[in-house]
Amino acid sequence: MTDIADVLLVHGGTPLEGEIRVRGAKNLVPKAMVAALLGSEPSRLRNVPDIRDVRVVRGLLQLHGVTVNTGEEPGELVLDPTRVESANVADIDAHAGSSRIPILFCGPLLHRLGHAFIPGLGGCDIGGRPIDFHFDVLRRFGATIEKRADGQYLEAPQRLRGCKIRLPYPSVGSTEQVLLTAVLAEGVTELSNAAVEPEIEDLICVLQKMGAIISMDTDRTIRITGVDKLGGYTHRAIPDRLEAASWASAALATEGNIYVRGAQQRSMMTFLNTFRRVGGAFAIDDEGIRFWHPGGPLNAIALETDVHPGFQTDWQQPLVVALTQASGLSIVHETVYESRLGFTSALGQMGAHIQLYRECLGGSACRFGQRNFLHSAVVSGPTKLQGADLVIPDLRGGFSYLIAALAAQGTSRVHGIDLINRGYENFLAKLEGLGAHIELPGVPAQHAKTAAAAVA
Ligand code: EPZ
Repeated sequence: MTDIADVLLVHGGTPLEGEIRVRGAKNLVPKAMVAALLGSEPSRLRNVPDIRDVRVVRGLLQLHGVTVNTGEEPGELVLDPTRVESANVADIDAHAGSSRIPILFCGPLLHRLGHAFIPGLGGCDIGGRPIDFHFDVLRRFGATIEKRADGQYLEAPQRLRGCKIRLPYPSVGSTEQVLLTAVLAEGVTELSNAAVEPEIEDLICVLQKMGAIISMDTDRTIRITGVDKLGGYTHRAIPDRLEAASWASAALATEGNIYVRGAQQRSMMTFLNTFRRVGGAFAIDDEGIRFWHPGGPLNAIALETDVHPGFQTDWQQPLVVALTQASGLSIVHETVYESRLGFTSALGQMGAHIQLYRECLGGSACRFGQRNFLHSAVVSGPTKLQGADLVIPDLRGGFSYLIAALAAQGTSRVHGIDLINRGYENFLAKLEGLGAHIELPGVPAQHAKTAAAAVA
């Protein structure tokens, strides 16, 4: 039985209105924290959100002898790697928990200690999520990898050496693996078919501030010239474009109006185009972006997810909820993860009409076509959503269930809300600030926020 603070009652039907702020990107901040391990001096990271993934990495760094303190300004961390040491395998395992980030400790620990341990990895259940690319590239640098019952043991018998790598798919994690390993490797590394997400670019900025030499070509080729030593960095993390887009989809689905302070046009251009095609309205200023439902029917669209600069897969689930309110047939082709449409079955229980297909619908053929994956959907709308009992499957699926429950008539019970703390800072306080009618059963309203924070 889930504990009381892990179930949220959502009374739907109220448009979300007001302002929220997004801080540093969940998919950059933990990686920038790991990069500090490569330095011989302390680093200062700003705009750090208070989310679970940050806490997990903070704990793993401390296990390896890095001191992590809060800095002068709110959301600032000071990371001092001068006394890096080996950590106990059981502690690493216990601490890594539901995160995939431990895999990115490999390069820095191999450089600093000559060895590294990787426990079994977690992460959202949205596909097989293999890590074969990661181990292939680490072997190319000269690391040895031994698989044992409790995890993978890596060694660097000599200094790791730069090499030429072509990724089979522009994977974000594998690109970060190469960056965090090549910067201190001997010689030049040329990585082609690399991921070029804004978070990758921001990580490259962090490494360059430490003393790295990295060039990014327009054809997804990244060249890194290894150096002997890196210093520290002072860096303000780019804002979380994934969280910003989630609140934008919430404004659309609830017929609301939300100003997202901190949202930036540059990293969200593809999302903004799609938002406008659906019929959403937005206004951009220097501090953020306002998103609202302009009234009238929404337009059904054909949507295909892809690597950057395509439509980001993490934008898909929240927007699909808004598409249930659009007039006509929307087609969604998920090409990045093979099982990221499973969350739609619960939307079906709420009254949405969504049919899943194994074929590559509405766009180009992808890796999952002709294989047994329900990775395309046809959403026919508009349909009225009714409150229901919902169990959160993964981070973005979880936030999209909150949106659906807020857009629905009646009350929903949303189970497993603590998972949302992995990537959405203070989401309960933000929802209440936007006028959402929510309750934590058995927790008096004035205690709701603290109770919610307690599950974080
Ligand atoms: C990062 O995951 C993000 N997570 C994901 O965000 C995001 O969806 C993804 O990049 C794509 O943009 C973090 O940054 C912590 P990938 P990552 O390696 O690095 C296949 C969220 O909700 N692949 O780019 O794990 C893989 O199976 C999360 O914020 C291999 O086959 O993603 C997938 O199909 C969810 N072998 C594709 O590549 C490998 O060794 C993309 O994965 C590695 C990846």
